[in-house]
Amino acid sequence: MVSGAKALEIIERDNLVEHASIAGEYLRLGLNKIKDRVNCIAEVRGKGLMLGVEIVKPTGEHNKFGEPVADGELTLAIQRAALERGLMVEKGGRDGSVIRFLPPLIISFEQIDFALRTIEEAIIVAGGVEKTEQQAKKSSWRKHFIHTGEQGATEFAQVMNHTTQAMKEVFEKVSKPYSGLDPKTLETLINNVNLDSQNSNLQSVVDETAGLVAEHSIFTQHPDCIAHLHTPPLMPAVAAEAMIAALNQSMDSWDQASAATYVEQKVLDWLCERYELGEDADGIFTSGGTQSNLMGLLLARDRIADVTDGHSIQKLGLPSYADKLRIVCSDKSHFTVQKSASLLGLGEKAVHCVATHENGTIKTDALLADITALKEQGLIPFALVGTAGTTDHGAIDDLATLADISSQFGLWFHVDSAYGGALILSIIKTSSKGSKKPIQ
Ligand SMILES: Cc1ncc(COP(=O)(O)O)c(C=O)c1O
Repeated sequence: MVSGAKALEIIERDNLVEHASIAGEYLRLGLNKIKDRVNCIAEVRGKGLMLGVEIVKPTGEHNKFGEPVADGELTLAIQRAALERGLMVEKGGRDGSVIRFLPPLIISFEQIDFALRTIEEAIIVAGGVEKTEQQAKKSSWRKHFIHTGEQGATEFAQVMNHTTQAMKEVFEKVSKPYSGLDPKTLETLINNVNLDSQNSNLQSVVDETAGLVAEHSIFTQHPDCIAHLHTPPLMPAVAAEAMIAALNQSMDSWDQASAATYVEQKVLDWLCERYELGEDADGIFTSGGTQSNLMGLLLARDRIADVTDGHSIQKLGLPSYADKLRIVCSDKSHFTVQKSASLLGLGEKAVHCVATHENGTIKTDALLADITALKEQGLIPFALVGTAGTTDHGAIDDLATLADISSQFGLWFHVDSAYGGALILSIIKTSSKGSKKPIQ
């Protein structure tokens, strides 16, 4: 009696009758919306918060009286699926085909949202959505995406496992660096691929690609393959590429790449430390050597205009003395130095190449003489490009001396380490510690 009176007092005090009526209407509205999206709800009925949902066969079967056929089995499956997801609903009705909601009077709108979300998910999982052919066609694009949740994860694993297996079979068969297929035949086979065949099954596309493309690729990892320039693939790189592709983070902003944002900064800081670039050093990942050379020389070009007369190339375009600007590098530097000069609006003529020793490294005496001569001609050498690993011979310029010369003439020092940069991680670097100069 006492607790009953207390309950009534709370109901009155918190206006729970009115809340139940509004929350009940909210729940009813949500259930009716689900009814429109699935095929197994015949009716939503009841009063206030005490609502029931009548479950019928999703195939749309009718009995002899023209009524939809109740589906007790599906109701049970829905109840179980809901329970597995943390929502308890009662099963009742004559055929055990009514799902009942008996929430407490104090239920919040957030809790109702949860119940609605969960019950819809449970209905879908239990098979309460029988899609028409047209509906299925409309949503068939979904299968091309990686979905979260158990089902999506399983499909992802199936595709990855299938691809791994296909590549495993390719590698097992490899006995020489190239299959030996006549190049003309390979070209014809590839040209015969019908790119318009829509909606091909992914697994058969993977099989076809493995048989046609992978099997007739160049296997740089084969012992008989004499290295050109590109390296055999590394296992960690393949694993990383798969993860990167599956996540597709965008480095534009944190909200598109939460963890990757920190990974980028962490790796850059680590690299700056390895290269001993100093406290203020920072960087950015690029697509490779071409982009790195362009970016380095862009910074150098913008800096010379800034320090010369406070001119902003970004805002105003090239300065009046752009014609005189010179980039100095060796005659063994990569051709992307010239390419960068052309892209930067300076023209290839802005690149001055210095002679090299027989071993491919820049002659530092000649460098000093050339810079002096350029200046005497009224030209403006503004950047020095050193190479840490020339393309053909892997020659590493005397970077410490180049750094000194850059300081002496106020040049921006850029090191193209596309080829040899990774040496910083090698044992050779450790043993030469103390004899090197930081790279800018
Ligand atoms: C010394 C050097 N710099 C730059 C590049 C260009 O690099 P990427 O092909 O990554 O753009 C190469 C490529 O061979 C190179 O050897």
